[in-house]
Amino acid sequence: MTGESDLDPAASIDAPPGPPSADSGRSGLSRRRLIAGGAAAAAAGAVVGAGATAAFGSSTAAPAAGVPGPASGGDAVDLTHRVPFYDQAHQAGIRTPPQRHSVFMTFNLNRGTTRQDLQVLLARWSAAIAQLTQGKAIGTVEPARPDAVATDTGEAHGLAPASLTVTVGLGPGVFDKRFDLAHKRPALLRELPRIPGDTLRPELSGGDLSLQACADDPQVAYHAIRNLARMVTTTAHTHWVVMGFGRASAGPGQETPRNLMGFKDGTRNVVSDADYDQFVWLRDADWMTGGTYQVVRKIAMTIETWDFDRISDQQRIFGRTKDEGAPLTGEREFDTPDFGKQVEGAHVIDETSHIALAAPENNRGVKILRRGYNYTDGLNSQGLLDAGLLFISYQNDPQHFVDLQSRLGRFDLLNEYIRHIGSAVFAVPPGPVTGSYIGKALFD
Ligand code: HEM
Repeated sequence: MTGESDLDPAASIDAPPGPPSADSGRSGLSRRRLIAGGAAAAAAGAVVGAGATAAFGSSTAAPAAGVPGPASGGDAVDLTHRVPFYDQAHQAGIRTPPQRHSVFMTFNLNRGTTRQDLQVLLARWSAAIAQLTQGKAIGTVEPARPDAVATDTGEAHGLAPASLTVTVGLGPGVFDKRFDLAHKRPALLRELPRIPGDTLRPELSGGDLSLQACADDPQVAYHAIRNLARMVTTTAHTHWVVMGFGRASAGPGQETPRNLMGFKDGTRNVVSDADYDQFVWLRDADWMTGGTYQVVRKIAMTIETWDFDRISDQQRIFGRTKDEGAPLTGEREFDTPDFGKQVEGAHVIDETSHIALAAPENNRGVKILRRGYNYTDGLNSQGLLDAGLLFISYQNDPQHFVDLQSRLGRFDLLNEYIRHIGSAVFAVPPGPVTGSYIGKALFD
């Protein structure tokens, strides 16, 4: 089910680029100040305040020391929190409020791997993820016998669960003839087509399996991926990996975070039950019911160039103000953009701005769930910042992403400052019941 029938066919998908709009000229970053939040967090022990240094101007007064303020109140992190793994309709890590850190890794199955090897891999991963998400090791950290090798690598020993989730995805390759699973292929799973503007690198693209680990402690997320990779080396080998930080989307009660371009990211996202049902979860999809599709794009930013772009242009590119995150036709972050509004014959929100091109109003009502993270790989070979957005979206039809990105890839003003360098698509099966494992239905 894709929800296509509820879409507005009158909306234009292929609107050509329009003329540049006027600068909206909203306030800049001159009113910087710190919002207390760290003190409350420190006092709370394992509970960490979200934005100890919220540095953008805001109409919100700084709270008194020790009192959770807007930067920490609804956005506090409880490192002792555990996310259930078994008996959930959907895998965790999709609707779970985004944690602070992520490690995303893809794998390819080794030559000679059998269908049974794949089954064992999925069963072992599931059992291990169940342990890890409860804050437990996956085996002995310090074996009794001196000649024994530890089962668990140990770097998360003593650390809290930190809301760890590990989401498992199955790439199109799982359903090719190697494993006799073609009859189980999820109906809409196929490699993404080439999309306008793609500059993809093979070493950052595709994969038979994906693991998305998210946690509020980066070491907990890294430990999970490292140990899950280590336990399957005879069956699968690592393909590409991205370490993410500073979530680039918000869940209920969380403040909208910022991407590395300094703009709030995730303001208009999928949030309601109805939208999850219509746009994210698969219904009437046989063994994939309750599952979804994951699209991953590694998007590099030319940050140095961006940093010297004037603020009016930056705001025109997104169609939003930088400080508040308001649409250029509004005052507050959650004001609804008015894409039709014109001043002196020019659209206030440029027709080729990022939000004008991506908004459901201009895409036959289509929405995708964005759950990305910022990433940095340090410096590139020219000494420039090597950083960007690990874009991850969930949708019940990958074509929804393809349609959106085809439009963005052709017309988005943002393209001057970004390059899509990595890409992959995976089917994400539903969550397992106790005693079972992710993807078991493949082998029934
Ligand atoms: C580095 C790349 C990207 C950056 C920096 C970026 C940044 C942003 C920002 C700042 C917003 C406005 C705030 C919000 O509503 O979340 C936004 C909105 C949005 N973006 Fe992106 N984005 C990127 C790539 C993409 C891609 C690849 C897609 C999908 C193909 C996408 C889809 C959307 C959608 C659907 C919205 C909401 C538009 C609305 O309803 O107003 N973005 N993005």
